[in-house]
Amino acid sequence: MKTVLSYYKQYIPFVCIIILVLFGQVMCELFLPMFMSDIIDNGIVAGDLDRIRHTGIIMIGVAFAAVIFSMSGSLFASLTAAKAARKIRKALFTRVTAFSRAEIEQFSTASLITRSTNDVQMIQQATVMSLRMMIFAPIMGIGAVFMALKTSVSLSWTVGLALLCVCGLMIFSFVAIFPRFRMMQEKLDRVNLIMKERLSGTLVVRAFRTEFKEQERFDEANVDLTKLYIFVNKCLAFMLPTMTLIMSGVGVLIIWVGAHLVDAQQLMIGDMMAYLQYAMHVIMSFMFVTMIFVMIPRAAVSAKRVGQILDTPISISDPEEPKSVPLLEEGTKAKGGEVEFRNVSFTYPDAEEKALSGISFTAQPGKMTAIIGGTGCGKSTLINLIPRFYDATEGQVLVNGVNVKDMKQADLRSLIGLVPQKGTLFSGTIESNLRYGNQDATEGDLREAAEIAQALGFIEEKPDGFETEIAQGGTNVSGGQKQRLCIARALVKKPQIMIFDDSFSALDYATDRALRNALRERVTGSTFIIIAQRINTILDADQIIVLEDGQIAGIGTHDELMGTCQVYSEIARSQLSEEELERGRDNG
Ligand SMILES: Nc1ncnc2c1ncn2[C@@H]1O[C@H](COP(=O)(O)OP(=O)(O)OP(=O)(O)O)[C@@H](O)[C@H]1O
Ligand SMILES: [Mg+2]
Repeated sequence: MKTVLSYYKQYIPFVCIIILVLFGQVMCELFLPMFMSDIIDNGIVAGDLDRIRHTGIIMIGVAFAAVIFSMSGSLFASLTAAKAARKIRKALFTRVTAFSRAEIEQFSTASLITRSTNDVQMIQQATVMSLRMMIFAPIMGIGAVFMALKTSVSLSWTVGLALLCVCGLMIFSFVAIFPRFRMMQEKLDRVNLIMKERLSGTLVVRAFRTEFKEQERFDEANVDLTKLYIFVNKCLAFMLPTMTLIMSGVGVLIIWVGAHLVDAQQLMIGDMMAYLQYAMHVIMSFMFVTMIFVMIPRAAVSAKRVGQILDTPISISDPEEPKSVPLLEEGTKAKGGEVEFRNVSFTYPDAEEKALSGISFTAQPGKMTAIIGGTGCGKSTLINLIPRFYDATEGQVLVNGVNVKDMKQADLRSLIGLVPQKGTLFSGTIESNLRYGNQDATEGDLREAAEIAQALGFIEEKPDGFETEIAQGGTNVSGGQKQRLCIARALVKKPQIMIFDDSFSALDYATDRALRNALRERVTGSTFIIIAQRINTILDADQIIVLEDGQIAGIGTHDELMGTCQVYSEIARSQLSEEELERGRDNG
């Protein structure tokens, strides 16, 4: 809440203007009944036509001024709210972009989206309302009470009575509605979550024929949300007519009591009319206050949700005094980036068991380090520690002898080309996707990268070549094509460290081999770290790391491991024929 409020600090001058303008509006509106009373008592009753004309013209002028003040008040309120909302949205975007995976998982993407859109909108609406009403209503209320008392003291109990009723109504609204608002935003989160899952998983849902179940799941969240909306609106539906009833009742009461006073010659008829208007102003002001009491808590809930994002510490941030990476020192953009794990252990946030423990190895520049192991043994987790998607819980990850935690993230990541297990392409063209990591790449660079990644063939077969449109998420290319484009994208960056997370799984054997050969021959000097499921892919690696349940079960070349590592030889025997095993031996 505090965090969100701090975004309004710079708009204090605007708020001052709004206060001034609204003060002007209140003054004008409070003077109007006085003029009217004058017209009735001294003009109509006394039959003085000149006075009616004269005062009438002044009244029109004052009313016009009130309109101008009111309009400028609204304008400045909307401006302030919209500008502050833009700032908040921008801050949210920047923050969320800097979030590490741990923080994103903590909130869930759906909730992050609701918070950045719907919640900010709530805050914006409430800002407009409160800037208009919260300032206007108290000034008006106090002014109107003052003027009413000045007009007639003997009628004042009527307004007191009305205010008592309004207070009761306010307390009711506070108790009944306030707690529901947080629930409402949470339900909205849930609806968004299901919608998002449903949309990104359309094909799976269809293939498993679970549309009905999904529909039910959605309906459930939707019905919950609807029920809440209906309840809140029922409360509002009760409140507004009750308000009108109170106002009409007070009107009748004032005229009834006033008529008797006029009859007894204790009150002028014009003063009674003016009093009636002041009474309405008082009640209206209280009504606005009530509305603010409804709006503010709701916005407070939203502000709290937005504040939670803005206040969440980013678990992975740049060190205060970053060390320069030896390779990045000016002018010496040499090839190669040594990656070393020193007794590294890692536990996912909220997880109980270690995903990795006691990992130590070094991946040398110009060499190919392969990682193999069963599903869920921690391979992706391991390589996620290199670009600092997560930080090691124990031990150190070093790149060129510098702990990754001591470098600027931007420096570190500029060294790394990562082809993730679930590659993502962005909407645009093939070219824009390939240029993603290096805007300055020449056309020759793009072609070369595509050629190494074995993607040039299918790119050239497309009628538009490199200009071929890529749909959002890369849904209009095949799985294998997507993998190759992701590999080419990493190559265009010309990184010192190349990491492939199971990036060859969707390639046929021949393409797999051609790609690896091209990498070996044409991308010399870089450090290669390759995760693979197929032993064929890594037979000729310089170093193979066998992972089992987050621990290293063996390190060595294929031949060494065949002799020493039981886990490895089991994997090898299950995948390769005797003949292939022999050949592997010959190569070594
Ligand atoms: N974000 C996460 N939060 C908590 N636990 C996780 C998270 N990601 C993975 N895990 C757990 O960590 C372990 C290792 O997962 P990891 O993704 O590294 O496996 P992997 O070896 O890459 O498997 P695969 O070959 O299937 O890709 C698994 O038990 C998994 O359940
Ligand atoms: Mg994986």
